[in-house]
Amino acid sequence: MASKFINVTLKVWRQKNADSKGNIETYQLSKVSTDSSFLEMLDQLNEQLINEKQAPVAFDHDCREGICGSCSLYIDGRAHGPQPQTTTCKLHMRSFNDGDTIYIEPWRSKAFPIIKDLVVDRSAFDRVQQSGGFVSVNTSGNTMDANAIPIPKTDADNAFNAATCIGCGACVAACPNASAMLFTSAKVSHLNMMPQGEVEATQRVLNMINQMDSEGFGACSNITACEAECPKEISVKNIARVNREYFAAVLASEKNPSK
Ligand code: SF4
Ligand code: FES
Repeated sequence: MASKFINVTLKVWRQKNADSKGNIETYQLSKVSTDSSFLEMLDQLNEQLINEKQAPVAFDHDCREGICGSCSLYIDGRAHGPQPQTTTCKLHMRSFNDGDTIYIEPWRSKAFPIIKDLVVDRSAFDRVQQSGGFVSVNTSGNTMDANAIPIPKTDADNAFNAATCIGCGACVAACPNASAMLFTSAKVSHLNMMPQGEVEATQRVLNMINQMDSEGFGACSNITACEAECPKEISVKNIARVNREYFAAVLASEKNPSK
């Protein structure tokens, strides 16, 4: 498709810091190449703002390749914008038309407080991960043969699919309850489904769900908006599996409170 240039009106959430009241500001941007990515379009906006001696818009980004999960933007009322299974950095301006008005907002969730403009604090995800998203291994001695533990293909595939979660937070942003169950269930599942993660499986699911609850995320009520907006197609089957593991772990810990 031949590249062309479009003019857009941007309605961008501006907020000085965590304590100030934010508001939507309107900017006109001309000659945006339809080959540019959404983030490159924001770079163009920031160059324009700097030339006009205005403060550039703060937004998160890192890899710009769809793998780090930092480019969290709510675009026209959808997490990561209008294209399915696409992070904001992989969204291109060819998805928009000349004369469009585009609304750009940060993730909205009590557990993801706004730091500035479009940047939110997602360290709640880090703390969920730190509470159990690891496998304790003895690293002394020789390296184990990779084939020493046979793993059924379906288990390996399901664990791998869960492990593709990039921690972007779109699931939380898309959920009317701001639930983090899709993220947490993916992080529990990719370890608990493998023999290497089985030893700590019970404690892992208890710790990670309890940490998730303490961070202020909402409860899951099976709306499945999370799965629909997840750029990595993480399945809500992970939520069902982790709910079963969690209830079994709670019952086990009630029978044996020392665990
Ligand atoms: S489950 Fe999907 S939407 Fe949620 S953090 Fe992981 S990749 Fe992002
Ligand atoms: S910038 Fe890394 S996923 Fe978008």
